Amino acid sequence: MTTEVYKVADPQNLTCDDISVIDRAGEIIRNGGLAVFPTETVYGLGASAYDPTAASSVYKAKGRPSDNPLIVHVAEPSEAEAFAIVSDTYRDIAERFMPGAVTVILPKKDVIPDAVTGGLDTVAVRCPSDPVARELIRRAGVPVAAPSANLSGKPSPTKAEHVVRDLSGRVDMILDGGDCVFGLESTVLKPEGDKAVRILRPGAVTAEMLEDAGYTVIVDSAVTDLSAVGENPESPGMKYKHYAPVAEVILLDMEGATESFSSVINRMESGNDGRFAVLCRREDICGISDDAIVFTFGEKNGEDDMAHELFSCLRAADDAGASRMYIPVPRLDGMGLAVYNRVIRAAGGRIVKV
Ligand code: TXA
Ligand code: MG
Repeated sequence: MTTEVYKVADPQNLTCDDISVIDRAGEIIRNGGLAVFPTETVYGLGASAYDPTAASSVYKAKGRPSDNPLIVHVAEPSEAEAFAIVSDTYRDIAERFMPGAVTVILPKKDVIPDAVTGGLDTVAVRCPSDPVARELIRRAGVPVAAPSANLSGKPSPTKAEHVVRDLSGRVDMILDGGDCVFGLESTVLKPEGDKAVRILRPGAVTAEMLEDAGYTVIVDSAVTDLSAVGENPESPGMKYKHYAPVAEVILLDMEGATESFSSVINRMESGNDGRFAVLCRREDICGISDDAIVFTFGEKNGEDDMAHELFSCLRAADDAGASRMYIPVPRLDGMGLAVYNRVIRAAGGRIVKV
């Protein structure tokens, strides 16, 4: 299959040409094909949520186990009523946080085939804020089932070039909308009774934001503890070793350490062969050996910046041939919880306490 790649020059100001290509991508999805689109979190690999054959093609294109359910994307929160049993909690979360980086698990209606939900009786609903994504869903005229647009096991794509490398020849079209704003996937929430939600996967809609909105927030144990991930976690995607680069990822817990970040790395690397990479705050770069491949993020927005860089750096470290990659353990509040959830998976749970 040849894959058409189309660059949207300015997603905030769609031109007539953009809209006619997005309309064609919508038609591809409506007719059972696959089209990749940008969102504010990561790129998505879209197919009609009403078409079981198209859903199977999604799993095939990604090389993904078919028991891992897909998120169904809508252009307006109210469109979920067509295929899910919508509750007051959903309406309240939608009013406060949609369109945006949040996904809500709801009981599903029969129109959603088992192929989309991996046989579960629930469906995950998300209304992205990215203008290209919303235009595409509107034009498709059907809800759009979309996992992250990476090959299974690779970090989620935050730039179109990541998608091109993973999925060229496996999808009909790729819409390039530039860099994703957040760089980590949406917060996945399961409503639990009145004004309580369980976070199955943390993202840019944070626990603090939900608490500020009056919710009791339960962070599922699988979010921070890999050993708590059993065969059947609430969110099936959490059981897989995700986001694993080829390089061995080593997490450094620097809390209370007296030694500097650079000195720790130089000590751990002494006598090692092969290249190594580091992802660190700009202020920590000083003193790191010139042999290192260094990626930095800014101090000002801390964990938000780290989230934005993380997946791209994991891919770049592999491209540069790094055998090891050192990453500091992030703070556990705000977006830091989402970063932590991803890096412990990339590191296979190993943390070195300094
Ligand atoms: O930001 C995002 O959510 C991106 C963009 C493209 O929207 N999508 C994404 O999809 O990250 P994916 O398939 O890579 O991750 C979906 C996650 C998985 O962990 C999956 O297990 C969980 O959502 N999930 C989907 N449906 C579910 C359900 N019915 N119950 C529990 N978890 C569900
Ligand atoms: Mg994914």
